[in-house]
Amino acid sequence: MIPKRRVLISTLILLVIFVILTNYYFMAILSRNESEVRKFTKSTIEEKILQKVPLIAHNYRNRRIINDNLTDTFIHNLKSTTVFKNKSNLWKEAKSWVSKTQLYNYSSPHLGSVLFALKSAKIIKADIDIRGTQLKLLLTLEGNQNVIFKPKWYPIDKIIEGPVYAGKDRYFSEILAFYLSGILGKPLTPLTVERKVSLKNEIVPVATTRLLNTIYKRRSATCVYGKCFYCKREDPVCENENGMITGAIIFNVDVDFKVNRSPWQRTYKKGKKAVWETNDDYCKSVKLKLSSRRLLNLIDTSVFDFLIQNGDRHHYETLDDSVILMDNGKGLGNPNIDHLDILAPLYQCCMLRSNTWERLEQLSGGLLKEKLKVMPDINNLVTEEHLNAVERRLLIIYATVEYCRTRNKIEHSML
Ligand SMILES: *[C@@H]1O[C@H](CO)[C@@H](O)[C@H](O)[C@H]1NC(C)=O
Ligand SMILES: *[C@@H]1O[C@H](CO)[C@@H](O)[C@H](O)[C@H]1NC(C)=O
Ligand SMILES: *[C@@H]1O[C@H](CO)[C@@H](O)[C@H](O)[C@H]1NC(C)=O
Repeated sequence: MIPKRRVLISTLILLVIFVILTNYYFMAILSRNESEVRKFTKSTIEEKILQKVPLIAHNYRNRRIINDNLTDTFIHNLKSTTVFKNKSNLWKEAKSWVSKTQLYNYSSPHLGSVLFALKSAKIIKADIDIRGTQLKLLLTLEGNQNVIFKPKWYPIDKIIEGPVYAGKDRYFSEILAFYLSGILGKPLTPLTVERKVSLKNEIVPVATTRLLNTIYKRRSATCVYGKCFYCKREDPVCENENGMITGAIIFNVDVDFKVNRSPWQRTYKKGKKAVWETNDDYCKSVKLKLSSRRLLNLIDTSVFDFLIQNGDRHHYETLDDSVILMDNGKGLGNPNIDHLDILAPLYQCCMLRSNTWERLEQLSGGLLKEKLKVMPDINNLVTEEHLNAVERRLLIIYATVEYCRTRNKIEHSML
């Protein structure tokens, strides 16, 4: 009797210990999973997309046989220049190209002439451009054309660490964006070229008083700091040893764009997430507020921004309801990183315009990089690492569409 009872009691005790331990174990595991899921729905989607990359890579390794007349025409026109004696006629033509479907005409034989004029026309007036948060000059070129000058802050191989929106404007990102828009067949960026200007000889003699007030000599170099949210006297742009500052000249199309808040805006606060970053079904709520056409435009924009890694499009401009690609200076920060969340509009909505998809497919097999490599000045502007990164990101876009397909969700729209 007695040993039997002892066995029973010890069994009971063991059972209790077992129950407590397993309970504890499962609670620990479950709560860990739950908090991970809560914290990272976005990153599990992104993981799934990255898992697709090696599975689909072979589908996109080969060059498609296409008649790429569009890009060939664009590149041909970029490089052919005739010098216009009367600049105002040339500017007038460039302005006539602007419509809701394009900011420039890549079929125009005068495209190269306009770019050449942007690079070389005499500066007849120089002022501060107070729009935006970073140093910009508003220059007037002979023939009365206003352009924006965004100066170079970093060498082109500088790697910007930190969040996707870190650092100052990269002027070469503005120029790559212009080239990319042409290659993608979406001429929605303003015309942009690289130009070197002498502050002392070209700007100071024609500068407004308020600009002159921000120009001073440091050691023997002439420097400028402008007027803007981040502009500081201690942090100017200075002429190099040849007396020049380099930057991007951006054609000012002189139309009033409407400025809209992006539904995929970031919070810009460390540790604080926006709704789109925590809610898998976010696209549903966007669909209630925006037309399909607008949504497809924003998805096109996210594809464009992902290729150059511009993660700073907190607002976007529209012209007659079309989304325009202005302000592309926050791309090309770090060629070793792909911020997948720039693609959130694509992977959350799983919609893509058919002609965008066709064009992206056509650019497979290394064609995108090849086209970029023959663009004017490209070797002064963009490192091989950045070009390879653009190519790698194209593959990630294919993988994202594949991810949507496996969820039976991809919707190709003709809108
Ligand atoms: C594009 O196609 C047109 C018509 O077929 C042709 O005349 C033109 O030369 C082509 N352009 C280029 C740059 O190949
Ligand atoms: C350029 O052409 C415009 C008319 O398009 C004319 O008004 C202007 O005087 C011309 N400028 C020069 C410098 O010839
Ligand atoms: C673009 O340029 C081409 C070639 O000159 C011309 O045929 C076409 O009409 C232009 N389109 C626009 C919208 O200016």
